[in-house]
Amino acid sequence: MKRLDGKVAVVTGASLGIGAGIAERLASEGAAVVINYGRSKEAAEALVSRIQAAGGKAVAVQADIRDRGQVRNLIAAAVSTFGRLDVLVNNAGVYEFRPLAAVDDTHHDRQFDTNVKALLFATQEAVKVFGDNGGSIINISSVVGASPVANGSVYSATKAAVDAITKGLAMELGPRKIRVNAIAPGLVLTEGQDKMEGTMEFRQYVLSQTPLGRLGTPADIAGAVAFLASDDAEWTTGQVLAVAGGSRP
Ligand SMILES: NC(=O)c1ccc[n+]([C@@H]2O[C@H](COP(=O)([O-])OP(=O)(O)OC[C@H]3O[C@@H](n4cnc5c(N)ncnc54)[C@H](OP(=O)(O)O)[C@@H]3O)[C@@H](O)[C@H]2O)c1
Repeated sequence: MKRLDGKVAVVTGASLGIGAGIAERLASEGAAVVINYGRSKEAAEALVSRIQAAGGKAVAVQADIRDRGQVRNLIAAAVSTFGRLDVLVNNAGVYEFRPLAAVDDTHHDRQFDTNVKALLFATQEAVKVFGDNGGSIINISSVVGASPVANGSVYSATKAAVDAITKGLAMELGPRKIRVNAIAPGLVLTEGQDKMEGTMEFRQYVLSQTPLGRLGTPADIAGAVAFLASDDAEWTTGQVLAVAGGSRP
């Protein structure tokens, strides 16, 4: 018997990076997983094949999570494919660092729409279909939500919002047995991280501030998500857990 046997999970933005690592881990622990992707269809389908080859259950579903109708279809696909929903991992997110003078509407709206507004939409839809035993919402925040970095004011603000939403919704949804927690990763090596301007210097700096002596991998984050998704965390809600090698950016 595996820890997540019988549970159904949706992971947003699971085609690449941290989301892909989370989906693979939840499936390996017995959950049936809906792998949401926006644009990276091939990567999402390859992940489904890997999970199925390892004996797990998964399906890939395209949805731009900024669009309320597409989010509704995503959650409906979980129920129509696997019969129920128990876990939502709000992982899809975008990050871009810019000094104040370069902040414009696009920079602001893209990050707030994806990291905050879409997370609220997805949560709204998921709680409608959770059963009598409630469910688990896991938001992927960032250590910069609590410890903002220079040139990252907008991104840091989106993650501070995620932390506040996590704590507020935990209070609101607790009576329905719906737990809401967040993981705040430190720097994790992913496709998105590779594309960040000035990433090599930033990595050196973060590494120098990391007591455990290495940067993160998607698997580091996935282990903590699997705990929060499971009944081992049944009395844990409203928490933001930093998984960051002890780093303080
Ligand atoms: N990497 C880090 O160091 C780090 C640290 C702290 C927190 N985080 C957080 O962790 C999460 C994942 O980061 P990552 O580094 O793994 O990112 P990534 O490698 O850039 O991957 C981002 C994922 O999000 C999806 N996505 C983006 N916009 C979407 C949309 N509108 N609709 C549906 N899917 C969308 C992408 O899907 P498609 O390509 O299919 O569109 C992709 O699967 C984010 O919330 C990020 O803020 C990352």
